[in-house]
This record gives sequence, C-alpha cells and structure tokens, in this order.
Amino acid sequence: MKIGIIGTNFVSDAMVEASLLVNEFELTVVCSRNIDNAKAFAEKHNIANYTDNHEDFLDYDLDAVYIAVPNVLHKDLTIYFLNNKIPVFCEKPMASNYDEVKEMIDASVQNNTLLMEGIVPIYTDAIQVIKDNLSEIGQVRSAIMAMNQYSSRYDAYREGQVLNAFKPELSNGSTMDIGLYPLSVSIALFGKPESISASAFLLSSKVDGKGTIVLHYCDKDIIVTHSKISNQVLIPEIQGEDGVIQMSHVSLLNEVSITKNKAEKEVLYSDFETPSMYFEFKALAKALKAKNIEAFPGAHQLSLDIHEVLTEARRQTNVVYPADKK
Ligand SMILES: NC(=O)c1ccc[n+]([C@@H]2O[C@H](COP(=O)([O-])OP(=O)(O)OC[C@H]3O[C@@H](n4cnc5c(N)ncnc54)[C@H](OP(=O)(O)O)[C@@H]3O)[C@@H](O)[C@H]2O)c1
Repeated sequence: MKIGIIGTNFVSDAMVEASLLVNEFELTVVCSRNIDNAKAFAEKHNIANYTDNHEDFLDYDLDAVYIAVPNVLHKDLTIYFLNNKIPVFCEKPMASNYDEVKEMIDASVQNNTLLMEGIVPIYTDAIQVIKDNLSEIGQVRSAIMAMNQYSSRYDAYREGQVLNAFKPELSNGSTMDIGLYPLSVSIALFGKPESISASAFLLSSKVDGKGTIVLHYCDKDIIVTHSKISNQVLIPEIQGEDGVIQMSHVSLLNEVSITKNKAEKEVLYSDFETPSMYFEFKALAKALKAKNIEAFPGAHQLSLDIHEVLTEARRQTNVVYPADKK
C-alpha cells in the first residue's frame, strides 16, 4: 500500500521506521514546504518522489496520506484528501478544536474514506491488556494519569525564542500536545466524563505550559496532569477497591502491572522493543484492507469525545487559538 508523507520533522522519521516494520507499506512520496527539505528527507529514507505541493500527491495513486505538520493545518489538508477519496492518517491532535474534528469526521463519512487520528496509546496491545484486567481491581475510584515531559523546545523559550511548540497560532500548548494522551487513555478506558474541571499555567506566549484536568464520573475522579515545562518520575496508576494497575508511561504503555490488595506486584505486559507507533500502522493496514472508514469500531466517536473535553478544558483555562474564532 502506497503512502504519502506531509511534514519532515522527527515524528515523520519515527513514522517511517514504524510503518516499514508492518511490511505492508511502500513510502511513495514526501511533501515539505521547502523542496530541499523534501529532497533530503526522501534521500534519507529512500523515498522515490518528493514535492513542495501536497496537491501533487493526487498523481501517485496513494492508498493513504500521513499528515504530521502543525495542528492548525490538519483540518484543511485532511478534508482535501478525503474529498479526493484518499484515506488519511492524521497526527494527534486531529484538529484545533471540536468543531473542526466534527467537520473532518463528517467528510470521512460523506466520502466513505478512512480517517484515523494518530494517538499512540489507543492502538497498543497494552491498552487491551488494561481493559481485560480492569475487573481484577474492582470498582475503580480514582486514577492519576500523569504525563509531564520537559519539551526539547522549552530551553529556547526560556532564552526568549518561541518555537512552534509554544505558538497559539499553530494551535499548540500542553493540553493539546501532551494532555491529549492521558485524556485519551482515560476516555478509552472509562468513557466520556460527566463533567470536568481544568486549570493551567499560561506562558507569556498565551499557550499553556502545564495543566490539570479532573475528569468527574459518578463513581470516580480521574486526575490528568500534563506539562511541557517540567518532568515527572511518578508512575501513572488506576486505583480500584481491590487493587491498582500501573503503567510505565501513559502514552508509550511499554509495561503494565497489577498489584492486587495484599498481593505482590505482577507484570501483565512488557515490551520496550517495539516502536510505539508500530501499533498505529498495523491498525492502518487492517482498516485499509477492510475498506473501513475508522481504525476500529467507535474510533471516530472516541476522537469526538476526546476533542470535546480538550476544547472544554481550553475554554476553562482561557487558552484561545485564532482557529477557534473562525
Ligand atoms: N505521535 C507522536 O508521537 C507525535 C510526536 C510529536 C508530534 N506529533 C504531532 O505531529 C505534528 C507535527 O509535530 P511537530 O512537532 O513535528 O511539528 P513542527 O515541528 O511544528 O512541524 C512539523 C513539520 O511541519 C512543517 N511546518 C512547520 N511549521 C509550518 C508552518 N507554519 N506551515 C506549514 N508547515 C509547517 C515543517 O515541515 P517542512 O519544513 O518540511 O514543511 C515541520 O518539519 C503535530 O500535530 C504534533 O502534535 C505527534
């Protein structure tokens, strides 16, 4: 199956490694705004074609397009390809806000063409292991779903240079870039919360550097903490009346363990070798072969639920993007 790639940053490098491991894909063409970047990326990864205009992709009889450019560009690019009946794997977050995500999913349905959102953990084998073992810890009462990681771009910010990762005009910031992961795992496991309470620390660039979203359910609260300006050493965990499930990392989900009350900790899943994006491309191959319009049953609704919460969290914390006003 032939794939076209838009965007040439490190996540596209990771995509190349993971997608080729699936043994179903041929990387056919890459697009960059800058033709020299496109050529360099093509040469680095042995891709036969490159361009600086994504409309050229229509010449390559592609089976899917992978989009990894700033969030603000996701909607228009995705709808362009869906309207041309080309399936789209769009990096997370699918778009700037809930309304855009709805528009994109509507385009997927109207064109009967696959749209999937690249949220690493929701495609992993590990999340299925967690789902299968949730009943073992009894009634869940709380979870600490923490993902705090100091951005490689924050050093520059501290020295006065605002890189893409901290720009509101590109629809970036901690809630969208990092908070999305623990939020997605929480909603994938427990469904959409009844209400949320969000707080955040806003940087001078007007995006959030870190924040907390408490997901309220009738029988439990889940605390999502996220940051691009500080690190963590604590391990995320789900606390039930009969035990605790822990995850080595809430997005990569390399290891999952369970500690039942009065018992020893037991490792349920461990895989630090497989690139985490591999599972996404396995899901893409399966959905393309089956000619499905979503990566798994309920995937579109999951994206809608995630983005409804993300948009509400930003509303509560006054993180406003130019894209919200369109
Ligand atoms: N799944 C994951 O693990 C993961 C990890 C990181 C990021 N992501 C997602 O992947 C996407 C890209 O993230 P990133 O950190 O790589 O973003 P980025 O560095 O801001 O941009 C990615 C690429 O988009 C192009 N680009 C940059 N600014 C642009 C602009 N103003 N207009 C048009 N094109 C522009 C550049 O490619 P050219 O110069 O070649 O045009 C750049 O290399 C985001 O949606 C992000 O959330 C996912």
